[in-house]
Amino acid sequence: MKTKTENTNGPTIIIVFGGTGDLAKRKLIPAFYNLFLEGWMSDNLAIYGLGRTALNDESYQKNLYKGLSEFSRSGKPDPENWGKFKKSLHYFPSNIEDEKSYKALRSEIEKVEKAWGQRANRLFYLSVAPKFIETACRNISANGLAEDQERDRIIIEKPFGYDKDSAIALNNMLDEVFSEKQIYRIDHYLGKETVQNILAFRFANSLFEPLWNRSFIDYIQITVAEDVGVEDRGGYYDGAGALRDMIQNHLLQILCMIAMEPPVTFEAEEIRNRKVDVLKAIRRIPFDDVHHYAVRGQYASGWIKGKEVVGYRDEPDTDKHSSTETFAAIKFYLDNWRWQGVPFYLRTGKRMLEKASSITIQFRTIPHNTFPMESLTPNRLTIHIQPQMDIKLRFMTKKPGLEMNLNSSEMIFNYDSCSTQTPEAYETLLLDAMLGDTTLFMRSDQVEEAWDVLASIQQAWEQGEDDFPNYVAGSWGPEKAEVLIAREGHFWSMDIKKQDKKDKGC
Ligand code: BG6
Repeated sequence: MKTKTENTNGPTIIIVFGGTGDLAKRKLIPAFYNLFLEGWMSDNLAIYGLGRTALNDESYQKNLYKGLSEFSRSGKPDPENWGKFKKSLHYFPSNIEDEKSYKALRSEIEKVEKAWGQRANRLFYLSVAPKFIETACRNISANGLAEDQERDRIIIEKPFGYDKDSAIALNNMLDEVFSEKQIYRIDHYLGKETVQNILAFRFANSLFEPLWNRSFIDYIQITVAEDVGVEDRGGYYDGAGALRDMIQNHLLQILCMIAMEPPVTFEAEEIRNRKVDVLKAIRRIPFDDVHHYAVRGQYASGWIKGKEVVGYRDEPDTDKHSSTETFAAIKFYLDNWRWQGVPFYLRTGKRMLEKASSITIQFRTIPHNTFPMESLTPNRLTIHIQPQMDIKLRFMTKKPGLEMNLNSSEMIFNYDSCSTQTPEAYETLLLDAMLGDTTLFMRSDQVEEAWDVLASIQQAWEQGEDDFPNYVAGSWGPEKAEVLIAREGHFWSMDIKKQDKKDKGC
């Protein structure tokens, strides 16, 4: 576990492929800057942004300064700190497909290391389109840029393949050129403070774990709703869809953290083993039954926060007859002792009524009602991931007064009450990668299992047709998603919110 006193963050050279891209500007450089502000970065630090655009260090730094001012949680950089930090920022013009660029990069790295008088940790961040991953990896390897298995690391952004076969092919390629411990497959959801807290909440308390199973829990749901559309990523998204873009990685990873067995130690391999056990336990949905378990949707035009927005097919770079899903809801069961018979509902969508991500643990109703004149609401634990960040436990209490009337009340842990500013997911993950901690990164077998879980749904959706678009922008998705969950007598958590308000008489 990282603490500043044990900071093993030695001399570091960071190479960002896609250095002029959106991710670098919005997330990566702000994350490095905030780590620098908080004293996590080595004094010997060099960050190289790679790209084909003709820029020099100065113009690159200017662009990044603008990005920082707009996107960093610490706001516009103050002149003193920016003056120090920018000395580490360099632009390195290069062509990802040209071997000469890698040779030049090697000379540059060696020059810096010579000036420092020591070999640095080298971190390669591949923030590029999937078609360039293999070229970049093979060239990094062939030019001896990442030969030190202890100190050289490669961070790769999703998508990790397109289905199980392509993920295996990608993993085999990576395995040929690097060792698994050098590979950091990033899923930024795992770096979110609220998601990491699931482990602390579950395994640092004695209160919840005995209840965390089929005997006490009725059902679990995980919702990641976005109010944005595909923005300027129509080109990528039209070939991906919600299943590949969100469920295969973010939502299944959250499910793993909720459903995993208690790890013996807080060590990367132990935690990753427990998570992969969950993926193996998820019951594979038979091809012919997919429509009973999974619902997809695509948004039509509508209104979001008082603004009219276009339908998915009218977004830039999408096919006018596209059958790509922008919404997916799936019911899973896990075949193991802990979770047999407990439904796990996963739901994600774009252009939904509001941005809201949460996990709902719905406990069973009490076995016998001592207060027959009262309708009792079962206990529920809600972990709000974003933008609201809190953990709420709902339970029944007596309404103050002379009569014995009951009310549902809440105990709340609110992140706003903590004094420190919450770090961004990328800060946590980049620091972990620099320190060589793979706990929050996806191992090759996790990625392959996650694809395997979705294989029949992918096939059924590729072969079948739905009447798209089937939900208006600014709603909670297609009606079929309500039917999916209502069949078991359950509700999506946003409906529960309304129910709560009724209970409280608000
Ligand atoms: C990305 C997806 O991985 O996560 C995007 O590709 C999605 O489509 C994004 O918008 C959501 O991330 P966050 O952190 O804003 O919830």
